[in-house]
Amino acid sequence: MSKMLRMAAGVFFFLFAVALSSAGAGSDAAVVEHTFVVTQVRMRHLCNDTLVTVVNGQFPGPALEATEGDTVVVHVVNESPHGITIHWHGVKQRLSCWADGAGMVTQCPIQPNTTFTYRFEVGDQVGTLWWHAHVSSLRATLHGIIIIRPKSGAYPFLKPDMDVPVIISEWWQRDLIKVDKNFSTGGNFDDNPAAAAINGKLGDLYNCSGIIEDNFVLDVEPGKTYLLRLVNAALFSEYYFKVAGHKLTVVGSDANYVRPYTTDVIAVGAGETIDVLMVADAPPCQYYMAALANQPPPPDPQIPVFASRALIQYTNISSNHAARHSCGKEPLMPDMPSQHDTITTVYFHGNLTGLPGHPLLPQIRGPVHEHLYLALGKGSMCTDRNKTSCKRGGNPESFEVAYINNVSFHLPEKTSLLEARYYGRTMNNSDHNWNSGVPVEDLPSKPPRAFNYTDNALIPVAGNVKLEELEPTRKATMTRRFRYNTTVEVVFQSTATMQSDSNPMHLHGHDFFVLAHGHGNYDARRDVKSYNLVDPPMKNTVQVPRLGWAAIRFVADNPGAWFMHCHFEFHIAMGMAAVFEVENGPTLEMSLPPPPLDLPKCTQHE
Ligand code: C2O
Repeated sequence: MSKMLRMAAGVFFFLFAVALSSAGAGSDAAVVEHTFVVTQVRMRHLCNDTLVTVVNGQFPGPALEATEGDTVVVHVVNESPHGITIHWHGVKQRLSCWADGAGMVTQCPIQPNTTFTYRFEVGDQVGTLWWHAHVSSLRATLHGIIIIRPKSGAYPFLKPDMDVPVIISEWWQRDLIKVDKNFSTGGNFDDNPAAAAINGKLGDLYNCSGIIEDNFVLDVEPGKTYLLRLVNAALFSEYYFKVAGHKLTVVGSDANYVRPYTTDVIAVGAGETIDVLMVADAPPCQYYMAALANQPPPPDPQIPVFASRALIQYTNISSNHAARHSCGKEPLMPDMPSQHDTITTVYFHGNLTGLPGHPLLPQIRGPVHEHLYLALGKGSMCTDRNKTSCKRGGNPESFEVAYINNVSFHLPEKTSLLEARYYGRTMNNSDHNWNSGVPVEDLPSKPPRAFNYTDNALIPVAGNVKLEELEPTRKATMTRRFRYNTTVEVVFQSTATMQSDSNPMHLHGHDFFVLAHGHGNYDARRDVKSYNLVDPPMKNTVQVPRLGWAAIRFVADNPGAWFMHCHFEFHIAMGMAAVFEVENGPTLEMSLPPPPLDLPKCTQHE
C-alpha cells in the first residue's frame, strides 16, 4: 500500500486484502494480488442498522493499486447469500473478456460459498477506474477504486504529492435485490437512497436525533498538490462537485489523460471518473468539498435532494502563519449549482479534450463501417406478456420499461451470453428452440419510427395520447455483432419519453472517442460538421445530455461480448442495455482464448 493513500484517507484499511507484489518473469510488470471476501455486515447510519453486502468488511471496498502493464489477480470468496460478479469498470480486458464480470453477459454469478479468480492486465491505461458488483443493484455498497499509475512515473502535468480517492456514492437502507426487482417490473418510485456519501461517510449534512454523521476528512499541507480521483459510484444520479476556496484542474477521465482544464465545478456522471489536481494554496483554514446530485426539473418525477460534504483542513501550519489569517468559525462552504441545473454538466463535458496523437485517431476519422442511431427512452409492455396491445399511459394493464430503440434488454437466464456464443449456442430471431441456448435479436440500427425525441410534451405519462403511441416496447436479448476491426459510430439520442433524464452510457471492453454532443434532436447533415476529429476525449462512459445527443466512435478490436448500457441502475434494471459482440480476428493474437477452468458454473435459474 502506498504511503500516500494511507495518509489521504484513513478509511482505506486493507484488513483482509493481501496486496502482494512480485516481479513477473522477464519483465518489469508486476502481479498485484488481492483476496476479496464478500460478506454481509451491519452498518449503522441515520439511527438504523442496515445489512449491506461488502468486500472485506469495508464500504467503500479496498483500493486496487497497479502500474500500467501489471497483471491483476483477485480471488473472490463469496460468503454472502447472493450470486456475485465483480466488474472492473473501464479496464479494457484485451483478450480477457472472461474476466469482465458482467453478470449473465460474460459469466454466471459466483454462487454463495464458492470462489472465482479474476485475472487480467491493466494494459495501456493510466489514471482512475473502479470495480463494482455487476449483478442486481448490489454495487451500491460493493465497489472500490482502481488506481493505475504510469510506468514511467512521469505525468503530463504537475506531479501530485498525494493521491486522494473521492468516491461519491449513495447510502441505501433498502433490500437492494427487491429494489432491482421493483424496477424491472415497472418501478416503485419510492425506492430512493437514504443519503449521499463521500468515501463511505455521509457527512454532517445528515443527522438523526442529533447524532451528526461523520465527514471524510482530508488533511492538506500548504503548497502541496493533491490528485483528487473522483468516482461516481451512485446508482441514481450525476453529481456536481466543488471545493470551497480552491480551483480544480481536470487532468484525466476514465483512465485517459485530458488536456488540463481549470474550473471550479466538476460534473461526474454515474460510472464516470474524473481526475483533478488541487493545489493547497488557500489561507490555512477549513473548507468543505461538496457533492450534489442533479435531476431534471418538474414535470419530471422528482427524487429528494442528495448531497454530501467532506472536510479539508490545513495542517503543519506555524502558529504565527495561522494568526495572520482569520479563519471563519465555520468551514467555508462552496456555492453549489442548483440541483435542477442540467446545463453546467454539458459545458463541463464539452470542455474535455484528449491529448492529440492517439494511435487510433487515424482509423476513427474514417471510413466508418457501421452507424447506429440509438434512441434512449421509456416505454411500456403489457402486464400480460402474451399481449402486445393493452391500455397504456400509466394504466395497470401495462408496466414501464426502459429501452434502446423500443427494445428493452432481457438478460439471459440459464447461461451467459459469452459462453453461449463461445460454444455456438446463440440463436437468431428465426430459431425458436428456446431451451438449448440463448435466443438473441439484432439491436436495431435506428428507432422503429422517427419522432420529435426531445419534445417536452412527452414527459407527463397520464392522458398523453402522443406518448401512448410511442410506448409499445418488446423484451429481447439484443446484441449487435461486429467484424474484428470494424469502425463503429454510435449516436445516442436522449428522449423525453415519460421523463427527460440524461443517460450516462457505458461500453465494456473498449474506450471510445466522444466526437460531439448537442441539445435537441441529432441531425446528421448539420451535426457531423461539429465533430472533433482532432483531439476528442477518450472515455468509457459518455454523459448523453438531457434532451440532447452524443456521438461516439470506436474500433471493435477486442473479441468478446461486451455489455453496453446506461449506468443509472434503474435504467439497467428496466432494460436500457444491449450487448456488442466482437468477432475474432484472423490470428490467435486477435482471438479470445478459452474460458478459465474455474469459471462459475451456471446453476438452473431460480
Ligand atoms: Cu460500471 Cu456494466 O458497468
